[in-house]
Amino acid sequence: MKAIQLTNGFGLEELTMTELDKPTPGPKEVLIRMRAASLNYRDLMVLSGVMPVDIKFPFIPLSDGAGEVVAVGQGVTRIHVGNRVAGNLQQRFLAGNPRAEVLADSLGGPLNGVAAEYVVLHEDGVVPIPDHLTYEEASTLPIAALTAWSMLIEYGGLQAGDTVLLQGTGGVSIFGLQFSLMTGARVIITSSSNAKLERAKALGAWQTINYSEVPDWDQKALELTDGGVDHVLDVGGAATMVKSINALRTGGTLSMVGFLSGLTIPEYDVTSILQKAATVRGSQVGNRDHFEKMNRAIAHHRLHPVIDRVFPLDRIGEAFALLAEGKQYFGKIVVQI
Ligand SMILES: NC(=O)c1ccc[n+]([C@@H]2O[C@H](COP(=O)([O-])OP(=O)(O)OC[C@H]3O[C@@H](n4cnc5c(N)ncnc54)[C@H](OP(=O)(O)O)[C@@H]3O)[C@@H](O)[C@H]2O)c1
Repeated sequence: MKAIQLTNGFGLEELTMTELDKPTPGPKEVLIRMRAASLNYRDLMVLSGVMPVDIKFPFIPLSDGAGEVVAVGQGVTRIHVGNRVAGNLQQRFLAGNPRAEVLADSLGGPLNGVAAEYVVLHEDGVVPIPDHLTYEEASTLPIAALTAWSMLIEYGGLQAGDTVLLQGTGGVSIFGLQFSLMTGARVIITSSSNAKLERAKALGAWQTINYSEVPDWDQKALELTDGGVDHVLDVGGAATMVKSINALRTGGTLSMVGFLSGLTIPEYDVTSILQKAATVRGSQVGNRDHFEKMNRAIAHHRLHPVIDRVFPLDRIGEAFALLAEGKQYFGKIVVQI
């Protein structure tokens, strides 16, 4: 079978198409013919060697994939041959709150990932995907969609009538937009591009702010809402967190998801968190239980993920170059396998 591997070391230039033996599923394992994978910022960090995960070379990258189960090992009962499935990023995070021991085993680092024609996973680590989705669409669910779903719906308790502030038009934020609308919440979304803001508006955003033209977007959000938003999904990190707290209403929730602008805020006065009585919650994607609930909602609402571009597997380098460039896409980047 064909697979993409890092054979000798880190770096996008080290990605190589290799020929490997087709794996065989052991007890409680399933063999998946992978059809599509989506790219995440996490994959870029793993490939670059900056993510603190213990990689063994040769290593198969990519965390998020979807495909069809073509064989099952002894004792498999949850999943059947012919099921269309996606892998859950954290293979042992099945339910409940995040715990250190279940967050460690993640696909695409430290575990081998899904950039291969055939992948073997434990039956507990896969989730059936909604029937109306293509494999390309379903491949976007495990990280970007599940993160937005977990933070807004499961932990955030988002309700109809709430106002959500989303940052930028990448994978997590566009799923955040779709799930907020599904719930009956209204959305303020920011972007560095007016053209992308128009697309977000067409998808249903209530208000848009260009964060390059309006650096005080937190003040703008306060004005628009007469006192602040109920929930901010923060993907910016260092450059956005303080403003995200400013944009909250008293008693609002900040979900810290990303760090696209960096991880460190040199000096920070915590007063605003106290004054706002804010809830600040860090994200570690989500558990299988939440993944299944999300898929049920996606199926009921016939929601389609927003994919910007699909690349063939042998052009994965171009797909990563697009991701690394940062702002040249809207929603998700996918590779066909
Ligand atoms: N902790 C978790 O559970 C978890 C899960 C998923 C993702 N993440 C992290 O969350 C972040 C976002 O992930 P993603 O997959 O959505 O990324 P993405 O698809 O690569 O998002 C890129 C977009 O983010 C926007 N952006 C970049 N810098 C920004 C800034 N300073 N302020 C506001 N928007 C900015 C830009 O939007 P415009 O082009 O519209 O300006 C850019 O196009 C990444 O850091 C990722 O590693 C964490």
